[in-house]
Amino acid sequence: MCGIVGYVGREEAAPILLDGLSRLEYRGYDSAGVAVYGKEAGMQVAKAKGRLQVLCDQIQGGNILHGAIGVGHTRWATHGAPSDVNSHPQVSENGRFAVVHNGIIENYAELREFLQSEGVQFVSDTDTEVAAQLLEYYYQGNLLEAVERTLHTIRGAYALGILCADCPDRLIAARKDSPLILGFGAGAHYLASDVTALIKYTREVCWLDDGEIAELTADHLWVYDAYLRPVEKEHRHVDWEISAAEKGGYEHFMIKEIMEQPEAIRKTVSPRIRDGRVVLDDWQLTVRELEEMDRLYIIACGSSYHVGVAAKYILEKLLRKPVEVTLASEFRYCDPIVSERTLALVISQSGETIDTLAAMREARRLGAKVVSIVNVVGSTIARESDSVLYTWAGPEIAVATTKAYSTQLAVIYLIGLYCADLLGTLDRTEYDAILSELQRVPDKLEEILKDREDIQYFASLYFNRPSMFFIGRNLDYAVGLEGSLKLKEISYIHSEAYAAGELKHGTISLIEPGTLVVALAGCGPLFEKTVSNAVEVKSRGADVLGLTTRDRAADLSRTADDVISIPETHPMLLPSLAVVPMQLFAYYTALQRGCDIDKPRNLAKSVTVE
Ligand code: G6P
Repeated sequence: MCGIVGYVGREEAAPILLDGLSRLEYRGYDSAGVAVYGKEAGMQVAKAKGRLQVLCDQIQGGNILHGAIGVGHTRWATHGAPSDVNSHPQVSENGRFAVVHNGIIENYAELREFLQSEGVQFVSDTDTEVAAQLLEYYYQGNLLEAVERTLHTIRGAYALGILCADCPDRLIAARKDSPLILGFGAGAHYLASDVTALIKYTREVCWLDDGEIAELTADHLWVYDAYLRPVEKEHRHVDWEISAAEKGGYEHFMIKEIMEQPEAIRKTVSPRIRDGRVVLDDWQLTVRELEEMDRLYIIACGSSYHVGVAAKYILEKLLRKPVEVTLASEFRYCDPIVSERTLALVISQSGETIDTLAAMREARRLGAKVVSIVNVVGSTIARESDSVLYTWAGPEIAVATTKAYSTQLAVIYLIGLYCADLLGTLDRTEYDAILSELQRVPDKLEEILKDREDIQYFASLYFNRPSMFFIGRNLDYAVGLEGSLKLKEISYIHSEAYAAGELKHGTISLIEPGTLVVALAGCGPLFEKTVSNAVEVKSRGADVLGLTTRDRAADLSRTADDVISIPETHPMLLPSLAVVPMQLFAYYTALQRGCDIDKPRNLAKSVTVE
């Protein structure tokens, strides 16, 4: 939620800030703003409700603001509706401090009351303005001291970028529970919520840790702990290509990222297979720890949680160990049964989702070992896990995740095979069959993607239905959850995913003539059962769009009005193939409906507030 950037160097700051914000817009896009300080012009602040483009137009691409230092923000509103005045930067009453913030200051109401009782006038409804006013309140000529006192007074989560008119050669950055990255350029330093805002300018970065404060000038960068004691930071080199964060000729990031899936899976899987065996160098758990594991919790949110639902079926089958999949936001507060023999498998594309991070910390506190599956290198979840298995999907920009889902699922197969091998729970023939099919997934996905116009055609038939249901059993049910979420996220059509056998226990009452039911009938032995459930909804007037493997397409078309067919594979691998037509169906449906696909309403890609 919310993207922040900062620049201090020798060039005009505003165009650099706007460019950085354009790469962070997926974090929030209801308003945007920048503050730039120039020798002659002083502190200049521009803010606008709406997309970043509105702000860009207002300040002529940044050309009307002058100065080589500044901060910028793109907002996903928490406190106060999207408006010019609630946009960041928030400025202190006398204009000395300009602050951009990602997170939530939890004690903002009491601090606001206190400051008001001291005569401070507030103009916005934001929690962030409290930080700006507090800085001013504590400021007695020493910037770092004012920052330290402010940070010790506020509670909650924050990534902050601070510009002070009295110290126009330096920016301050600070973080707690919200991501913040510092970039090292030639005669310049940067700060940003996400590395994608920086890679055009520098590949040398470091991540601020919780409680740390950084002071950036054009030529120097210092990091301190919460008591202003110096901290040494390691530089990291980021090797993401800038082109990976651009649309490259596609109409939307989402379709570009859908098309990138075969390659992303290849990159994630191939380096981890040696001599016909899965080798996970990053896996730190011993055979003994695995054998003694009493349960495996999978913890995640959103689509990553849906990977977890599929993973439960896959890992229980392969490892014969109890697996519980839980929503991170629930796990945190449910007093989970965790022991030192528990393994927590945390799944997150961004590695920054606040609920997932908090649940992971809770699991660790209770004694669990933590293995994470993460896409963003160096993100907080990655850094705090005992082991991290990266998905090599490259930057994912569209809010609706696609290639991150697919690569997370690929890593689940790798984990399943690797651990089953260690535990001896899988015979060699089955191991080989699953592994060789896993390696064929990218080629089979290319076949599906080549025929994407078929899915576009189905979307053109059904895009105006008011409600859609996704049914399936076992792994098909897991895919249905993701198909339904994709559709909701980007097309705004009401949709539900149901375990096919459960539909008749209530939800079938919602089926009426014209309802579309997507029946996922890929899963080998359960094919007939799902077909029976499709017949039940058809008898009540629903239209059925079926999905199955090519060898069963003719069978399914006896019941379904239309059938999406996918290449045959090992039944366990079907979700990797079946999810892609679901993504395409959601994409083309949203396209038909004229929706803003990469930036759906109310959503943000990286959810760093509770
Ligand atoms: C947001 C995104 C989803 C994502 C979820 C979890 O809601 O819009 O696409 O699945 O967060 O994100 P994570 O980065 O933890 O996988």
